[in-house]
Amino acid sequence: MKAIGIVGSPRKGGNTEILTAHCLKAIAEEGLETDLAPLAGLDIKGCNDCKYCFENDGCNIEDDLQPIFARMMEADAIIVSSPVYYSSSTSLVKGFLERAGYMARRTRGFSGKVGGPLVVARRGGQDFTFAELLFWFHINQIINPGSTYWNMAFGREKGEVNQDEEGLNTAWNFGKNVANLLKKLKA
Ligand SMILES: Cc1cc2nc3c(=O)[nH]c(=O)nc-3n(C[C@H](O)[C@H](O)[C@H](O)COP(=O)(O)O)c2cc1C
Repeated sequence: MKAIGIVGSPRKGGNTEILTAHCLKAIAEEGLETDLAPLAGLDIKGCNDCKYCFENDGCNIEDDLQPIFARMMEADAIIVSSPVYYSSSTSLVKGFLERAGYMARRTRGFSGKVGGPLVVARRGGQDFTFAELLFWFHINQIINPGSTYWNMAFGREKGEVNQDEEGLNTAWNFGKNVANLLKKLKA
């Protein structure tokens, strides 16, 4: 079994990546294979509503999304993380989710997988961003286990999230719940 963590921050090695790697570490401890997929530096456009994916596999836009999408389809668990930008998720993660969701829509390709979002912010907007991303998981029929708090953490400069003990613990416990739920579903 495999879990992928898609990191929707345009900043390499930032707080969102640190939190996601921490969550994947908890999952790896349960014996699953893990795959960290930062979107930083990649060219990922938003959906242009051409409807190519209504009739065909894949997407008509040729950019860096395709290989990440293939890794997502291979995974049993999907975690999508984003920093909060103006009380919302980043445009990078939005573009990615618009297209990945539509690409999987015809075959219901994400249905029955396990996962959920993680969010990081300096001070505010985590609730909204967490809820915003949960809507994507819900309509894609990805089963979302809870954690000991909502999956959010605090930090501004790179590495500051390491000082948010409760945020780290929440992401860790979420990882454990993802892994244990998957093991039960596959048993
Ligand atoms: C354009 C922009 C908008 C932001 N908006 C918010 C915000 O609404 N609320 C907040 O608390 N932090 C906001 N931040 C701060 C980031 O959420 C914070 O620095 C976060 O740790 C960045 O994650 P990263 O290190 O993974 O890139 C914003 C940062 C940027 C660059």
